[in-house]
Amino acid sequence: MITETSVTVETNAALANPLGLKKIHHVEFYVGNAKQAEFYYRKAFGFSRAAYSGLETGNRESTSYLMRQGNVNFVLTAAMGPEHPAAEHVKQHGDGVKDIAFYVEDADHAFNEAVRRGATPVIKPHDWKDEHGIVRKAAIATYGDTIHSFISYNTNNGHNYSGPFLPGFVSQPVDGEGVGLMLVDHIVGNVELGKMNQWCDFYRDVLGFFRYITFDDKDISTEYSALMSIVMSDGQHNIKFPINEPAEGKGGKSQIQEYIDFYRSAGAQHVALLCRDIRHTVGMLQDNGVEFLRVPDTYYEELRDRVGEIDEDVEDLKRLGILVDRDDEGYLLQIFTKPVEDRPTVFYEILQRKGCKGFGKGNFKALFVSIEEEQRRRGNL
Ligand code: FE2
Repeated sequence: MITETSVTVETNAALANPLGLKKIHHVEFYVGNAKQAEFYYRKAFGFSRAAYSGLETGNRESTSYLMRQGNVNFVLTAAMGPEHPAAEHVKQHGDGVKDIAFYVEDADHAFNEAVRRGATPVIKPHDWKDEHGIVRKAAIATYGDTIHSFISYNTNNGHNYSGPFLPGFVSQPVDGEGVGLMLVDHIVGNVELGKMNQWCDFYRDVLGFFRYITFDDKDISTEYSALMSIVMSDGQHNIKFPINEPAEGKGGKSQIQEYIDFYRSAGAQHVALLCRDIRHTVGMLQDNGVEFLRVPDTYYEELRDRVGEIDEDVEDLKRLGILVDRDDEGYLLQIFTKPVEDRPTVFYEILQRKGCKGFGKGNFKALFVSIEEEQRRRGNL
């Protein structure tokens, strides 16, 4: 029995979790004006404000709002002065993702093991406390200026925390009208030309992730907007990080290169948010003024032939602009917003899975033709 077990463990090396990652704890955005970003995420995307840190709570360096919907936790942070790192981050990148933070079994172990495996340290493990208890926190670097924090609490070594979110935050509930967003499905990183494999190796060697799917330029090349992509995943498929790099198009600029030019480095390109009823969710988001990419109506004429029977009415999908793709196990419905800041950088994907574990490969071509049209309007093709 013992032998059998160890064989199983070895052959399931992909299931190893060397850093003890449990889940994505939150995604922190550095923004120019957190108060206005809070309003946008609440009124447009239906998040509720859950907690706050700022002058009134004794934080004189920065202002942060915790926005929550389902199991999605976004922190919006703005600098109160030029000394705070958010100021420089916004100067360089515009509003963007700073931290994809993990809840871990033990932040010290996660940090030490990550660094031993080759990660660049950013924040050494330290106690972070307020009257609600102690959190242990550390962080390592990933692509661009983006980091992965490791956060642990409620462990058996004295780091217990019972506050509303993290130390320094007070509960400050302001309800948004939820649109049914439930969970972060994946977060895509755009990296520089020739760097995709290096960053995939980082997720494999440091975080113990494995290669889930690879897309090459045969899958996702249109006339201009070529890219290559590898999806890295943890062993439980809870955390999926596709990594994109620009590929040579036919004379135009890859959408990935456009992002990198405006973000001025590698960075997080889109956050995909899972919902249970995409027609309902997208209908509400559109009513709230969220702008989505549209594909030509001809997409829907060919849809049934391409994906077969689906539960949804194609006319509904066409009206809302929702895309469909199928794999062996089922199908998915997805739609992409336009960038949500002035620079053509970060955007969102809204996604419903009906068995399909893919990423919408069958939609890449239609989608990228639409993205190129946007790029052309921006003078960036
Ligand atoms: Fe995606």
